[in-house]
Amino acid sequence: MTISGLKGRSLLSLREVSGDEIHELLSKAADLKERTAQGSNPPVLAGKNIALIFLKPSCRTRVSFIVASTQSGAHAEVFGREDIRFGIKESVRDIARVFGRVFDGVMFRGFEHATIAEFAQYAGVPVWNGLCDSYHPTQILADLLTLRENFGDLDGLPLTYVGDGRNTVAVTLAIAAAKVGLDLRILAPRALQPDAGLIRGLLAERESEQARVRVTDSAEEALSGSAAVYGDVWVSMGEEEQTRERIDLLRDLKVTGDLMTLTGRKDTIYLHCLPAFHLLD
Ligand code: NVA
Repeated sequence: MTISGLKGRSLLSLREVSGDEIHELLSKAADLKERTAQGSNPPVLAGKNIALIFLKPSCRTRVSFIVASTQSGAHAEVFGREDIRFGIKESVRDIARVFGRVFDGVMFRGFEHATIAEFAQYAGVPVWNGLCDSYHPTQILADLLTLRENFGDLDGLPLTYVGDGRNTVAVTLAIAAAKVGLDLRILAPRALQPDAGLIRGLLAERESEQARVRVTDSAEEALSGSAAVYGDVWVSMGEEEQTRERIDLLRDLKVTGDLMTLTGRKDTIYLHCLPAFHLLD
């Protein structure tokens, strides 16, 4: 969806994409999905070569990009952490220049956002952020498509994120809320709530009057009327040493059947970006 829909631009976060562009991408994705389901697989990327760089592990993003590339007529090549040893082999900008000459586009999953931004600056071809320590734009675009398929209009749609409110998915949902008008509630313990200044800044630039981002530790307040409940892993990639502390902070916010009933709706759906670790009984 992002590969063919951004007309040659990079996607480093949803911050640099407008609400209208998000709607355009979603419509294009829905159309491609429908045509693919009918077996027509439009070869919109015929002859293109796509690099997929994973400095962090990946399952869903990897298979999505590979299958989507193949279905669109492109070839995708995967590079792992051992293949791309920034600073040990070449610098970020040197590898970016080489990849930019060889490939037509690069999906990059890494750590610091600044590294992806530097890579994009020197690659000279579109670079799509497949998760960094700050943002997860491709995940949230896919989730918006799911929400649109289930509920139609996104403007004013109530959605509750439950968990670590400062992580990639929560922050990217907040950006999306400001762009397309979601009524986002972030249910998180105080120690894991997003930066209030960040949320204020996003809302100051909101593109829809309906856009709301409320941060609370009250399950009743967060869930009332919600069309979708969104869970995420309690310990994001790269934060594994905080596992014990996170379990202690989040164990009371397990998304159970009881929690789901707090929405007061029968049509509420549950989303999870995965991975999920089944560590607790
Ligand atoms: N919040 C998780 C999402 C992974 C798909 C992480 O950043 O690791």
